Amino acid sequence: MTLAATKRSPMATERTAARRMKVLAVGSQKGGAAKSTTSLYLATRFAEYLGGTEDKPIVGLLDRDGTSKNLSQMIDYRPELLRPGVKLLDGEALPREDEGLKLVVIDTPPGLAAIDSLKSANLLVVPVVPSDQGVLNLQRYLQILETQRILLSPQMRVLALLPANVENTALHRARLDDIRAVAAAQRTPLPVLPPVPHRARIDRWDLTAPEYDAPAKELFGYARV
Ligand SMILES: Nc1ncnc2c1ncn2[C@@H]1O[C@H](COP(=O)(O)OP(=O)(O)OP(=O)(O)O)[C@@H](O)[C@H]1O
Ligand SMILES: [Mg+2]
Repeated sequence: MTLAATKRSPMATERTAARRMKVLAVGSQKGGAAKSTTSLYLATRFAEYLGGTEDKPIVGLLDRDGTSKNLSQMIDYRPELLRPGVKLLDGEALPREDEGLKLVVIDTPPGLAAIDSLKSANLLVVPVVPSDQGVLNLQRYLQILETQRILLSPQMRVLALLPANVENTALHRARLDDIRAVAAAQRTPLPVLPPVPHRARIDRWDLTAPEYDAPAKELFGYARV
C-alpha cells in the first residue's frame, strides 16, 4: 500500500483521531495519596484551559477505582462538582474517539490493582504525600512501572510527580526533599510540580481553591493536549 493510500484509509483516520485523545492517569499505589482529589481538580482546570462547555465537554473523567468508586459516588452526591466541560464517563473503558473529548483523566485505585488500572493510559502523573510511607511507596511504584509498563502501556510517559496534601512541618519539608531526590535519580529525571498544601477547602473539594492552579498549569504544558 502506498503512503497516499494509507493516508486516505478510514483505519488510518481512526488511528489519527485515537492519537488526538490523550489519556492521563493519576496513579500511585499508596492509599490516600490524593489521587481522586487530584483527578477532579486536574480535569476541572484542564477543561477550563481547553474551553470545554456544558454542551461540548472536552475532558472525560474515568473512575477506575472499582473498590471504592469514591470519585463517581461523590459526583453523584454533589453534581455541582462536575464543572462545564467535564464529563463523568460510564464504566471503566475509554470512550470512543468520536465523542470529541481531547483528554481523559483516569482516577486509579490504590494497592495491587494500581498498575493494571493504567492500561491504555499514555500519560501519568503521580501524586505523593511527603511522608515516610509516601516516599517508600513512590520508589516502589516507579520501580514496578519500569518493569511492568512495557506490558501495559508501552508508550506511557510519566509526566511528573505532584507532592500533595503537604503540611508545613519539618517532616513534610524533609520528605519533599526526598521526593525531589527520587525524581532526579530516575533514568529520565522527572519534574516535580509545585506542591499542593494541605487546605480545609481542598478536603471539601471546593473547586475554587487556587492551590491546584500552578501544578495544573505546569502539567498542562507537559501534556501538550
Ligand atoms: N491538599 C489537601 N488538603 C486537605 N485535604 C486533602 C488534600 N488532598 C487530599 N486531601 C484529603 O485526603 C484524603 C485522601 O484523598 P483522596 O481520596 O483524594 O486520596 P486517594 O489517593 O484517592 O485515596 P484512595 O487510595 O483511598 O483512593 C481525602 O479525605 C481528601 O479530601
Ligand atoms: Mg481515590
